[in-house]
Amino acid sequence: MSSQLTLALSKGRIFNDTLPLLEAAGIRVLEDPEKSRKLILETSHPDLRVIIVRASDVPTYVQYGAADFGVAGKDVLIEHGGIGLYQPVDLQIAACRMSVAVAEGFDYASAVRQGARLRVATKYVEIARGHFASKGVHVDLIKLYGSMELAPLVGLSDAIVDLVSTGNTLRANHLVEVEQIMDISSRLIVNQAALKLKRENLQPILAAFETASLAGSPSA
Ligand code: ATP
Ligand code: PRP
Repeated sequence: MSSQLTLALSKGRIFNDTLPLLEAAGIRVLEDPEKSRKLILETSHPDLRVIIVRASDVPTYVQYGAADFGVAGKDVLIEHGGIGLYQPVDLQIAACRMSVAVAEGFDYASAVRQGARLRVATKYVEIARGHFASKGVHVDLIKLYGSMELAPLVGLSDAIVDLVSTGNTLRANHLVEVEQIMDISSRLIVNQAALKLKRENLQPILAAFETASLAGSPSA
């Protein structure tokens, strides 16, 4: 028996980087989310549709089974907690790193050494909390939803925890990276019940994703 499958993706880099993996599985998405306002996109696979959600909402849709599988960054998965999700494959797409950055001229090393409380602005509070706890640094975390780079420039915080790829955003705002917390890439995530109940339809797509991501990885 065939079953309808729903894949949750976010617009932008995750959608764009997932398209070649879908193509490797012989699947085309029939509409472009940058051009269409539609949130449910048909594909060339009769039993597969793609839903477009915010990057940080992908794990929630998959956790509750509203999507059977999805693609989400390691950052998003750590912040979400990963409950109810099976994470079979690191797709090695949307690669970047999570880092601590401060304004040029801010003496981060002595601020940390002196044991003063550091004010840290971030969207990634779980990652930031874990990082500073493991270093024994006391922090006041200030939750933001974007444009973290602004916070040290206007006195909202001493430091930020944010994603860095080329470093262009930090440079443009006169910030410097002072610590790398972890490498980040995007993972395939699967609803645990769907994995059992829709195995027949899901398995070939998951296998094609895995093969395509391995073929595209630098060590392959
Ligand atoms: P939301 O829309 O939910 O606020 P977002 O704006 O972080 O999330 P995207 O910018 O589409 O969403 O990023 C999706 C994922 O891509 C992130 O979770 C991260 O894993 C990765 N990513 C973010 N910035 C970069 C970057 N500059 N280079 C490479 N990968 C990145
Ligand atoms: C991400 C991240 C940084 C930037 C880092 O933002 O939040 O601001 O990329 O990349 P860089 O080191 O190559 O400059 P993004 O471009 O996704 O914007 P958004 O957070 O507004 O989606």
